[in-house]
Amino acid sequence: MTAGLEEVAYKLAAGGKGILAADESASTIKKRFDAIGVESTFDNRRDYREMLFRSEAMSQYISGVILFDETIRQNAKDGTPLVKLIEDAGSIPGIKVDLGAKPQPGCPGETITEGLDGLGERFKEYYDLGARFAKWRAVIDIGQHIPSYTSILANAQALARYAALAQAAGIVPIVEPEVLMDGDHDIDRCYDVTEWVLKEVFQQLFYGRVKLEGTVLKPNMVIAGKKSAKQASVEEVAAKTVRCLKNCVPTAIPSVAFLSGGQSDEEATAHLDAMIRAGGLPWNLTFSYGRALQAAPQKAWSGKSENVAAGQAAFTHRAKMNHLAALGQWTPEVEQKKAA
Ligand code: 13P
Repeated sequence: MTAGLEEVAYKLAAGGKGILAADESASTIKKRFDAIGVESTFDNRRDYREMLFRSEAMSQYISGVILFDETIRQNAKDGTPLVKLIEDAGSIPGIKVDLGAKPQPGCPGETITEGLDGLGERFKEYYDLGARFAKWRAVIDIGQHIPSYTSILANAQALARYAALAQAAGIVPIVEPEVLMDGDHDIDRCYDVTEWVLKEVFQQLFYGRVKLEGTVLKPNMVIAGKKSAKQASVEEVAAKTVRCLKNCVPTAIPSVAFLSGGQSDEEATAHLDAMIRAGGLPWNLTFSYGRALQAAPQKAWSGKSENVAAGQAAFTHRAKMNHLAALGQWTPEVEQKKAA
């Protein structure tokens, strides 16, 4: 079973391919659809995701897709399971298994991610539905008195328990401790918090007997808060992110796949590209973007069947840009050559 885990964990970031995070919960996809004036119905969610999974991007640039519980059970309009569309494109289906970040008692302004009870049983069902990897997101916010060690520890322990349960079911865990970029903190504060969180996460993965060779890390980049007046350059983000990861992430981890976290599409691409260009990385580094891959296709589609080709072209363009970035071959010039 371990050999299978290692292969999947490696494949998710190999060859410049990356992961499409299409696992928006019911409330998040409603927010995204509200922004483009589309009602969030069962059929609209299916049509939108079917559009992505049938696009050219899938076989060329997308190693795996993280799905929401509804989607892994859903069929395309012609009755083909959506999971099969992903598999037929040579991509690997994955599943988000956490049940969301809830207020953590005793820790004002902080959250603990829930969903461990019964997770072993749920993993068995998801495996039968085709999932070969999973995702659990812990959320760490930066503020005046946060994060606390209480919250970091609880979230790291939950990630470790989740990861061990995933591996026991033959499923590769994506371990996602997201340090949010919502505040007004500078890049060095983000560095310090990210370092603290990653150190604790790997400590707990060790205590939890998680096999790192069969694990994927999904971290935030080290970046200034959105409300900070002091934004860092692309080079500084790349250098500090790589330095932080090198200080914290064991080389037994085969794949590191970043979240985009609210960066603009192009920033998320440029930052990844700069890290790869710098070279000397002990892991494969790639993208596991939600918003930075989907904002453009959502806008182009806007819920209209006559826009499906435009939506697919927009998605394929973004996926290609991030693929080039994962190879260190992206440039602002190729960015301008929009897909035909
Ligand atoms: P973003 O790239 O939009 O941050 O989403 C990635 C993700 O899966 C967050 O859990």
